[in-house]
Amino acid sequence: MKVLITCNLPKEVRAYIEKEHQVQINDEDRPMERDRLLQCVKNKEGLLCTITDEIDRELLDKAPHLRMIANYGVGFNHIDVKAATARGIPVSNTPGVLTDATADITLALILATARRVVEGDKRNRQGKFKFWAPLHFLGREVSGKTLGIIGLGRIGRAVARRAKGFGMRILYHNRHPMEESEEERLGVQYADLKRLLTEADFVSLHVPLTDQTHHLIGPHELEQMKPSAYLINASRGPVVDEKALVEALKKGKIAGAGLDVYEDEPNLAPGLADLDNVTLLPHMGSATLETRTQMAQLAADNLLAGLRGEIPPHCLNCDAISHRSKSL
Ligand code: DGY
Repeated sequence: MKVLITCNLPKEVRAYIEKEHQVQINDEDRPMERDRLLQCVKNKEGLLCTITDEIDRELLDKAPHLRMIANYGVGFNHIDVKAATARGIPVSNTPGVLTDATADITLALILATARRVVEGDKRNRQGKFKFWAPLHFLGREVSGKTLGIIGLGRIGRAVARRAKGFGMRILYHNRHPMEESEEERLGVQYADLKRLLTEADFVSLHVPLTDQTHHLIGPHELEQMKPSAYLINASRGPVVDEKALVEALKKGKIAGAGLDVYEDEPNLAPGLADLDNVTLLPHMGSATLETRTQMAQLAADNLLAGLRGEIPPHCLNCDAISHRSKSL
């Protein structure tokens, strides 16, 4: 079958797909232009895409032969899964393999922001490290502080495990509290959103982007945080109202922010990059050689299974299969 791969993959994974299918790949290491994507997908049965591709109704209408969409990534807010289901197209993602890498970058953001790591490095390179002094480069202690995790799923839990190593007290907020025995096992305590925001020294976001989580953190929530607290986001940019965040940071309503994702990627909200009390990473939470290779392999396994007519190992819409058989 004909397959479109919209992003560069490790050679061995590409060869693995090519053993079974005829592949067209965008190996330019930059996202496909929308027009080109629409043109290339027209005659394809399989699509391996990623976060920078908008897989909406327009695209699906232009791809009448599509039988499988395998996303390279765990977040799938860029895919209209409902529209794919209605057309009988299974959609898959790559959960699990990026949990540790994303939790690691979250800890890196917490430490870098609270301890002014990037700012220190920058000053040093500028030749501004002239002498040591007791009051230079004072950050805030991380050990023993309270971490508020919003969204205690796979990644949130991995963050909690790491934070335990820093002796942190951990509050979490989910739609539904977990069983008490599970809370005890993880050493975490449920808090409603208001309590979490008012008590945490670090608020870390680990929710998917949905209509319910869009701007979950806005002016009101930032107002509830302590002036000494930090906001950390390695989930999806639009979970935070970025304009409100810039305002809060400028006015000292919170102490700082560590961000890996943005509302309008790759653009940053005006004023964000001028602030010293923020760490700004370019959406690199899962960017380790090991993790990105495993993500590619998982996406390929999903793709091949879907094209064989099997349920892909990480299918997001198993009901697509029944829609498909009804329309046959
Ligand atoms: C993910 O897997 O969701 C990463 O953010 C990259 O898209």
